[in-house]
Amino acid sequence: MEKKNLDWGNLSFEYQRTDYSYVCNYHDGAWEEGGLTTDHTVTISECAGILHYCQECFEGLKAYTTEDGSIVCFRPDLNAKRMASSEKRLIMPEFPEDKFVDAVKQVVKANAAWVPPFGSGATLYVRPLMFATGEVIGVKPADAYQFRILVTPVGPYFKGGCKPIDICVSEYDRAAPHGTGNIKAGLNYAMSLYPYMVAHHNGFNENLYLDSETRTYVEETGGANVLFVDKSGTLVVPKSFTDSILPSITRRSLVYVAENMLGMKVDERPVKFSEVENGDFVECGLCGTAAVISPVASITNEGKKTTFPAGCDEMGPVMTKLRGTLTDIQSGKVAGPEGWICKIC
Ligand code: PLP
Ligand code: COI
Repeated sequence: MEKKNLDWGNLSFEYQRTDYSYVCNYHDGAWEEGGLTTDHTVTISECAGILHYCQECFEGLKAYTTEDGSIVCFRPDLNAKRMASSEKRLIMPEFPEDKFVDAVKQVVKANAAWVPPFGSGATLYVRPLMFATGEVIGVKPADAYQFRILVTPVGPYFKGGCKPIDICVSEYDRAAPHGTGNIKAGLNYAMSLYPYMVAHHNGFNENLYLDSETRTYVEETGGANVLFVDKSGTLVVPKSFTDSILPSITRRSLVYVAENMLGMKVDERPVKFSEVENGDFVECGLCGTAAVISPVASITNEGKKTTFPAGCDEMGPVMTKLRGTLTDIQSGKVAGPEGWICKIC
């Protein structure tokens, strides 16, 4: 199969249409069979639930070309599970987890020519989403939904690739206190756009949220979890006592890799922002499907800038090792734990 003629090494994180999407509708209490479509548009009623009460959730994963030319994706079963918990919280019908993985396989296989070649640094981003199509005017869950998957080839999420970025603490809370941040719902992201724009306006690449109740503990950024490395080399992973950090699949995988493959000490615990300002950490990184691991050079809070000495000008040694091991597993260069790699074709 011949790949599309794209400048794979210079892709940015932008949408471009590919050949196929996947679509499946829910009505009268059941999901249809579902299948591939070449129609990349959606026509819905002006009274559809998504347009009024924002019943929508989504997922994000990637497909990779391995050295031998196969196409694989990374732990799609965990995306299926997390999507199911988002659906449950939003009173949407559950899209069966095995049907989810099968749909990912179908749509990636059909778009094989769009999966960036091995070694190009680019990947195929896979975006499953579900939204209420049924009409509602009073506040209540709709009775019809659409599940779709679109795919699009992407480069690095942050411009500059692996160059450390500067971020700031957000003055605003996310719309995701007390457990609602652990679902991937569009409404959480809509409410994060204002603080995101404020951060960008002030020259930062991203904004970091503190816990909304006490504004004391580190939570996560708009699109990624946060990791720190302390002076003893321990990987310190912020844990939310209000359960409002999205359970990142990348972060959970990195914790396993650090402990079991790299022999590192990992400490998952609530992290006070004062520890950052005290200079307790030598490296910081943002992790997620889109972010992979993006190193952080500095965090600014109310005009006070804290830098991470071991990862300021270029990615620090621990983040480099973690990123290298993770991407080697994802691209099939290094064997990961059983079940992490899902072969598509
Ligand atoms: N946190 C937020 C708010 C996100 O949007 C994402 C992206 O999915 C992540 C964290 C990282 O999660 P994952 O590693 O599963 O992509
Ligand atoms: C992902 O990493 O898949 C996300 O959904 C985050 C978003 C910022 C692109």
